Amino acid sequence: MIQLVANTRSREYPVFLSEGALEETGKLWRSLGNRGKVVIITDDNVAALHLPGLEESLAATGFIVNAVKVQPGEEAKSLGKATALYSGLFDLKTRRHDAVCALGGGVIGDLAGFVASTYMRGVKLIQVPTSLLSQVDSSIGGKVGVNIPQAKNYVGAFYQPHMVITDPALLETLPRRELVEGLAEVVKYCLLSGDDFFSNFEFSYQEFLSLNMAYVEPVVRRCIEYKLRVVSEDERDFGRRAVLNLGHTVGHGIEAAGAYQAYSHGQALALGLLAAVRLSEQVFMLPAEYGERLWSLLGLLGLPVKLEGVSPDDVLTAVARDKKADDLSANMVLLKSLGDPVINCDVDAGLLRSQVERLVRGD
Ligand SMILES: NC(=O)c1ccc[n+]([C@@H]2O[C@H](COP(=O)([O-])OP(=O)(O)OC[C@H]3O[C@@H](n4cnc5c(N)ncnc54)[C@H](O)[C@@H]3O)[C@@H](O)[C@H]2O)c1
Ligand SMILES: [Zn+2]
Repeated sequence: MIQLVANTRSREYPVFLSEGALEETGKLWRSLGNRGKVVIITDDNVAALHLPGLEESLAATGFIVNAVKVQPGEEAKSLGKATALYSGLFDLKTRRHDAVCALGGGVIGDLAGFVASTYMRGVKLIQVPTSLLSQVDSSIGGKVGVNIPQAKNYVGAFYQPHMVITDPALLETLPRRELVEGLAEVVKYCLLSGDDFFSNFEFSYQEFLSLNMAYVEPVVRRCIEYKLRVVSEDERDFGRRAVLNLGHTVGHGIEAAGAYQAYSHGQALALGLLAAVRLSEQVFMLPAEYGERLWSLLGLLGLPVKLEGVSPDDVLTAVARDKKADDLSANMVLLKSLGDPVINCDVDAGLLRSQVERLVRGD
C-alpha cells in the first residue's frame, strides 16, 4: 500500500493508493482512530459494481454503514440534491464524528464533499474516487461544490477530505469513454511535470489503455503527487494552484461554446492543451516538436484534435466571458518548457484567435 500525504494548511491527510485498496477502507479508517457511522454516498452505476465491497470492508471493521444512492450524471450536483442528502443524514442520526464517504466519480465527490463540508458545519469526509478524473484530480485538493442553474461549480467550499482511498483496479469497470476523459487530465500532468513523464507516457500509453496496473498505478501516483504538491503551496487558489488550469482557458471556452453538449470536459481540454502548447511556442519559444507530439498522442488516445460543430467566435467570446479572463486578451497558463508552467500569461487576442482557428483546421 502506497501512502501519500496531503499537507495543507487546513488539514493533513493520507491518500492510500493501491490495487485492491477499496477492500482495506475499513481497516485504514479505523487505523486513523475513527469509529461510529459511515454514510456512503454513491451513484447507481457505481453502487451496482463497487458498493458491496466497500460496505463489507467497513462493516467488517465495526463501522455502522449506510448507503444513499443518487442518479448518475452532472444534474446530481445541485442544491436540491444536497438538501435531500442533508435530510438523509439527519434521519440516519449522523453526528459530527461520523463520516460521509464519497464513492464515485467527480460528481459524487463534489456533491458528497459539499454535503460533508456543510452538514453540522462539517462532518468527516472519505473520498473513494472511482473514475480516472476523480482519482487524479477531483478527489484531492478539497474543492467541493454544486452547480446553480446559471453556472457550474458556483456554490461550494474548500474542504479537504480526512482520507482518500484510490484503487486503480476500479477503473476496470469504467466505460472507455470515461477513461479517455480522465486521460486528458493525465496528459495535462505530463506537460506540467516535464519531458520525462511526457515521453514515458507517449511511449507507454497503450499500457494505460489496456489497464496494465503495473503501469497505471505509478502514473496515477505521479499525477496525485503533482497535485498534492501544488495544493500544499496554495490551498485556496490564490496563485500557484492556477498551473492546474493548463489547457482549461480554451477548454472551458469550447465547452461553453458547445453549450456543454458538443464537447465533454476531457475532449475540450484536449483541444485546450493543444492551443496552450502552440501558444507557448509563439510566446516562449517552446520547441514546436511538442505541439506535434501532443497532436499525435491525443489522436492515439481517442481525444479530438479538430474543433468541429462549434464556431471559433463563440469560443473566443466564451473565453473572454470566463471568470479567469478579462477584456479580449486571455489570462492563460503557458509553458516555458515542459515542467515549467507560467501562470497569468496575458495572451494577445490575435494570437489566441489564430490558434483557435487552427483547431478548426485540425492540422
Ligand atoms: N473538485 C475538483 O477539484 C474537480 C476537478 C475536476 C472536475 N470536477 C468535477 O468532476 C465532475 C466530473 O467527474 P467525472 O468525470 O468523474 O464524472 P462522473 O462522476 O459523472 O462519472 C462519470 C461516469 O462514470 C461512472 N463511473 C464512475 N466510476 C465508475 C466505475 N469505476 N465503473 C463504472 N462506472 C463508473 C459514473 O456513474 C458516471 O456515469 C464534474 O462535475 C466536475 O465539475 C471537480
Ligand atoms: Zn479539468
